[in-house]
Amino acid sequence: MKIMVVGGGGREHAIIKKIKENKNVTEIFALPGNGGMAKDATLVDIAAVDIENIVKFAVENKIDYAVVAPDDPLVLGCVDALEEKGIPCFGPRKNAAIIEGSKVFSKDLMKKYGIPTASYEVFSDADKALEYIESCPIPTVVKADGLALGKGVIIAMTRDEAKDAVISIMKDKQFGKSGDSIVIEEFLTGPEVSVLSFTDGKTVVPMISSMDHKRAGDNDTGLNTGGMGTVAPNPYYTKAVADECMEKIFLPTIRAMKNEGRAFKGCLYFGLMITENGPKVIEYNCRFGDPETQVVLPLLESDLLTVMQTVTNETLSECEVKFADKNACCVIMASNGYPVKYEKGYEITIPEELERNVFVAGAKLEDGKLLTNGGRVLGVTTVKDTLADAVKASYEAVEKIHFDNAYYRRDIGQRALNCKGE
Ligand code: AMP
Ligand code: GLY
Repeated sequence: MKIMVVGGGGREHAIIKKIKENKNVTEIFALPGNGGMAKDATLVDIAAVDIENIVKFAVENKIDYAVVAPDDPLVLGCVDALEEKGIPCFGPRKNAAIIEGSKVFSKDLMKKYGIPTASYEVFSDADKALEYIESCPIPTVVKADGLALGKGVIIAMTRDEAKDAVISIMKDKQFGKSGDSIVIEEFLTGPEVSVLSFTDGKTVVPMISSMDHKRAGDNDTGLNTGGMGTVAPNPYYTKAVADECMEKIFLPTIRAMKNEGRAFKGCLYFGLMITENGPKVIEYNCRFGDPETQVVLPLLESDLLTVMQTVTNETLSECEVKFADKNACCVIMASNGYPVKYEKGYEITIPEELERNVFVAGAKLEDGKLLTNGGRVLGVTTVKDTLADAVKASYEAVEKIHFDNAYYRRDIGQRALNCKGE
């Protein structure tokens, strides 16, 4: 089988490595992929948002199955366009990807179907939003409606910060049209849990839970990033919490989307906060999380491609999806200065015995050398029986990988270890 994976980061590298385990797979193309994946996939220089050329490539190369991993092509309708040409895909259609593409849509969906989330107001008029901020509870959270490269959420600790956020999103158009509408919502507290799930629109199968570490600095300080590390499973996600999530969040969401004529097929990501009043949805993503995927898929014992195909064929209920009873930790090595300003072009050296543990995100091949080419450069994942051992082994591996100006958090997994008392 010829497989095509759209996207080019660490998440896509993890997906590719897992799909490669299937004996029927003869070739995997990554569009565009990155230089660090060259041993696992054929790199094709087509951008992940270039839908027209993605479809053309798939048709010309007789692709048997396509995985569309990032949010932008999904929201733009990449799956719809491929399906029109008869290419089976993993990923939601455009009308379902809106669950991530529009925060106004997802908040209204949750309200309509009684799915627990922060209370909120929607504004499409900046002055009305500014007036509301004069008397709303503080802290508050301001969110741009559309995609904003993960930067569209501002936690405002004061009224002035909230007003600045409204002005930069709605008046200065910091995120372009994504800021035509905004959501202002209640500030919630509690541990966060990421739950990725497989769903074929009818059945939902949660994967093993995980914990992201979004801030750039140790002890959750500094700016928000795409994610500096992950562990799985997440110890805050107990059996009782999981049962409550299934009943009040996962099943109601799948049914709501189906009921709206927007059946969701693919990976639906539930960003949850375990509050004093139970689990609530912080956000939905219409795709695998990055770097959650880098800890979740290494724990998957079932064949990924087979599971994905049952999602496409709407036979997920007949598929067994098994995860190892182990722990995984992924530490992201970034370029110093990320997420603001950083240099690129430094040579990366990865000892051969560690290659299977490494998922490369921002690198390019030049004259046979692998060079840094992004903020998040790579992730190192280790699977062990205990979380403490997984964390220790990942950091030992990090010490053996080298590039100039490397930066990584030193405390990935600490919060989870404290929760477990390990
Ligand atoms: P997002 O960019 O949507 O992933 O949101 C970034 C982060 O903002 C989340 O991971 C939460 O830590 C935080 N966040 C979002 N919404 C809320 C909320 N209503 N209350 C508290 N924190 C929030
Ligand atoms: N790790 C969070 C995300 O993928 O959005």
